Amino acid sequence: MGEVKQLQTWIGIWSGDWNCGYIAGSNHMVGIMMEMHYLTQPPKRYTFEQPKLKEIVESYCVGLTLNLFAGRVLMDINEVRNDIDPDMPADFHMDAYELVSSGDLPKFDSIILDPPYNLRKAREKYNGRYIGLFTKIKNVLPTICNDGARIITLGYDTVGMSKSRGFKKIAVAVICHNGDHNDTLMVVEEKQ
Ligand SMILES: C[S@@+](CC[C@H](N)C(=O)[O-])C[C@H]1O[C@@H](n2cnc3c(N)ncnc32)[C@H](O)[C@@H]1O
Repeated sequence: MGEVKQLQTWIGIWSGDWNCGYIAGSNHMVGIMMEMHYLTQPPKRYTFEQPKLKEIVESYCVGLTLNLFAGRVLMDINEVRNDIDPDMPADFHMDAYELVSSGDLPKFDSIILDPPYNLRKAREKYNGRYIGLFTKIKNVLPTICNDGARIITLGYDTVGMSKSRGFKKIAVAVICHNGDHNDTLMVVEEKQ
């Protein structure tokens, strides 16, 4: 993983269920076990202008990858790029929901979701383009995923696709930008 500092954290001890952690000596489930990373990167206007963050996202991508809010930075993966902004380098310049629900896409092995994080950021940095209901997009994504596909979501929370859509969390990263900035969170999930 190159320069990326990896902190592999086991919350509790092995209990026979890969996705459940238990405090040693007790039967209380305290959370789920997964890979955990902590990175520090100065903030940039475009997420993947932060080299360590770009590298860790690339490291979790497998096979054909849909980069749904692709922005400006080309990834070192086999990607299909979409961005609503016609000035961004992309294969499609469509609204994310329109694209994923079009029925014209192949099935993907990975999907990167790096939408504008909130309306304020969308207004300030992306000419007012905002994705609307992110939930609507998430609901369609399982239909364009191969079994075992990974979805990598960046933002200010680790909700991701969740169990309710048939996904299991396998990794989380916290990206600290120092100064007066919110951390960025990355969650990686696998379709069960
Ligand atoms: C957080 S940036 C992604 C940056 C990208 N990961 C990079 O590092 O270059 C969000 C991107 O989503 C695009 N976007 C905003 N609304 C969109 C929509 N409804 N559908 C598709 N793309 C959208 C913006 O133009 C912007 O480039």
